[in-house]
Amino acid sequence: MLKGIKKIIGPLLCSALLSAPLFAKETIKIAIAGPLSGAYASFGEQLWKGAEQAAKDINAKGGVLGHTLELIRADDACEPKQAIALANRMVDQEDVKAVIGHFCSSSTIPASNIYAESDVLMITPASTNPRVTDRGLKTIFRTCGRDDQQGVVAADFLNEKLNAKKVAVIHDKDTYGKGIADAMMKHLKTLSIDIVLYEGLTRGEKDFNALVTKIKQVKAEAVYFGGLHNEAGPLVRQLREQGSMIPFISGDGIMSEDFVVAAGGAKMVKNVYMTFGADPRTLPEGKRLVDTFRKNGYEPEGYTLYSYATLQIIVKAMEATKSTQGEQLSTWLKANSVETIMGEKAWDEKGDLKTSDYVIYFWDKDGKYHQYKNTVS
Ligand code: ALA
Repeated sequence: MLKGIKKIIGPLLCSALLSAPLFAKETIKIAIAGPLSGAYASFGEQLWKGAEQAAKDINAKGGVLGHTLELIRADDACEPKQAIALANRMVDQEDVKAVIGHFCSSSTIPASNIYAESDVLMITPASTNPRVTDRGLKTIFRTCGRDDQQGVVAADFLNEKLNAKKVAVIHDKDTYGKGIADAMMKHLKTLSIDIVLYEGLTRGEKDFNALVTKIKQVKAEAVYFGGLHNEAGPLVRQLREQGSMIPFISGDGIMSEDFVVAAGGAKMVKNVYMTFGADPRTLPEGKRLVDTFRKNGYEPEGYTLYSYATLQIIVKAMEATKSTQGEQLSTWLKANSVETIMGEKAWDEKGDLKTSDYVIYFWDKDGKYHQYKNTVS
């Protein structure tokens, strides 16, 4: 009799021990970290909305091996110090099992040290600075590309499509903004294009008229801007108000309709371009999901679907390993690929995606963005 019971209980006990970290609690907490308030809140909203819908869909199908996902709002306001305090809180007090975020590289980089030390998986859908993954932290991944890929695409576009011979390079002095501007410039130099101005502006400032005057004085034929929409918007507006219609090109940091608002409306963003991964909203895998977002009154722009896909990836790794331990999840992700709403994703040893898909976008007359295919109509 006892023997019989042992036979039954033995394997159960064994499987319970193997999966102990995952099954220790009823719910599995995942932090969604980014600027959920402040000037860049629309980007935090993209991460939140994407993950929120993914959690809803996954929980509706039974959760992760029967456990419900619980999302925690982790607002870093895109401030590195706040991000560090928040990361400690997420790990020590909230006991989160994974993190989606952060958004700004300047927050992601210091926060990722804490997650890595605590053996927590962190996947950023949006932080593109190379140092996010170049530091060799085992549990740190991304589902977006890198600025040394994104900057090259922008430089080639300036050269091949815009035929700019003199470029003004402006950045916001932040990790992402300066990093992408420098990566772009490095490639621009190999194309023998003159950098007629290289200058940093200060985040939060609104009056860039003196800078615009300089851009005009040096006879720049195009402006490249490394930074986020809150500064890019007023800069474009003041450029146009001073009568300059030269092309303005930036990166994923202006991928929000809030950029159009900050620029003063759709007519101000004519001749503005940016780099971003191929639009996931147009993929067949995501059609039903995009319709759901739109039906609920939310346009899944920018990184929204990246965030959705990131939760799918985390869940897949937890199910495959029956674990929530960062190192185990990391080892699995580096050896496998995952089907997501954005297609199949796979990672290299550093935690970077194996393929990069940056393309150019432009804003139309109604203030909506579209992929550039040799024309802006
Ligand atoms: N790609 C931007 C960054 O890395 C959002 O900060």
